[in-house]
Amino acid sequence: MSAPNKSNNKKLFIKTYGCQMNVYDSERMAESLGGQGYETTQTPEDADMILLNTCHIREKAAEKIYSELGRLKGLKAEKPDLKIGVAGCVAQAEGAEIMKRQPMVDLVVGPQSYHRLPAMEEAVTKGEKALDTDFPEDDKFETLKSRPKAKRGPTAFLTVQEGCDKFCAFCVVPYTRGAEVSRPSERIIREAQELVEAGVREITLLGQNVNAYHGHDGGLAGLIWDLDKVDGLERIRFTTSHPNDMDDALIEAHGTCDKLMPYLHLPVQSGSDKILKAMNRKHTRDEYIKLIERIRGARPDLLLSGDFIVGFPGETEADFEDTMDLVRTVGYGQAYSFKYSTRPGTPAAERAQVDEDVKLDRLHRLQALLGEQQRDIQDSMIGRKVKVLFEKHGREAGQMIGKSEYLHAVFAEVSDVSIGDIRDVLIVKSERNSLGGEIC
Ligand code: 5AD
Ligand code: SF4
Repeated sequence: MSAPNKSNNKKLFIKTYGCQMNVYDSERMAESLGGQGYETTQTPEDADMILLNTCHIREKAAEKIYSELGRLKGLKAEKPDLKIGVAGCVAQAEGAEIMKRQPMVDLVVGPQSYHRLPAMEEAVTKGEKALDTDFPEDDKFETLKSRPKAKRGPTAFLTVQEGCDKFCAFCVVPYTRGAEVSRPSERIIREAQELVEAGVREITLLGQNVNAYHGHDGGLAGLIWDLDKVDGLERIRFTTSHPNDMDDALIEAHGTCDKLMPYLHLPVQSGSDKILKAMNRKHTRDEYIKLIERIRGARPDLLLSGDFIVGFPGETEADFEDTMDLVRTVGYGQAYSFKYSTRPGTPAAERAQVDEDVKLDRLHRLQALLGEQQRDIQDSMIGRKVKVLFEKHGREAGQMIGKSEYLHAVFAEVSDVSIGDIRDVLIVKSERNSLGGEIC
């Protein structure tokens, strides 16, 4: 019985940590709590409910959340009716421990239980505590409120797959997000159509291991081809992939599907066969390099992005040099690199660790190389014509900012361009994190 709350226009503040999937989840949680009378606010001081949507992928994640909760104590003291919730992977990993350490927390919800939020909200409104970190069987996205028709920006995330069965030795995802589950393709197509009706022109399909998607007979490529038929949808992207799940159909789609953008995030983590084995990545350095050659064979202008971990247990200077060499061989237009950090409960956490200063030194060297490649590839865009999907107005009058096919941010002086338009742009300059262009 929640009717009395529904017209109250209460305010919800969500702070999102971590990956794009959390961004998507936060959006869906906000929509779902919209049905309980909440609208979102950007200021925590105005909020009747604060949700921290947390990430557990790297170091000290839980400690950061406990300090954030500590900072919120003052707000709660001033406003005793304020409800505080913790969602996401730290909620999943810590569970009831959160309420033990911070008794002012009203609600703890794991990533697989967001569809139960309305009921949990009703419980906390009555002054009860609500905790749910189950892995239920039902499709939480289907049970959540359907997507609102209100006009929205031209790009959106859409989660198609969650969890992971790969068990890389460093990673918490198989524990916090659970086993790999794919959403049925019909539901994804329906959600994509709703997004397009609301003004979306580019969709990024999300999954922890998105190319292992099996909710369609044709795998992820089959889903992409179905999305290709959605009128009004102009661009499709997907992230994050595992090299072993890049099947032939998906490689081919990069060459034949016009809506599939020439950008691929394909983490390798290390260039050393010994370390790849210790990481349980289940492929070799050569297999990865050959795979990239095949994908580039299908789509020569593909911009490749990757993730790297330095200082994994057992990594010697020679292993690290193998990573540097692989980076030089492959060439990345975008990359994320991290020092290995122990995650409790994962196999590598128990092994002998590399010294912190060695890790830091390797990280700096790798980042210098990756930064150089990224700049060279960005600079090489000068003189080229790209298609830009304009997303927002720039800081200067008459200027708009959008993304090229290759996911480079591009700004241009415009006169008759609206948000959501796709225009040909000639690139004329390359700045630190963006390209400057002229509409042609
Ligand atoms: N330490 C450092 N980096 C990690 N990643 C995942 N787990 C760890 C860890 N324990 C990185 C990987 C992954 C990205 C999302 O985060 O590179 O691809
Ligand atoms: Fe983690 Fe990705 Fe490995 Fe899965 S494939 S265990 S999500 S790093």
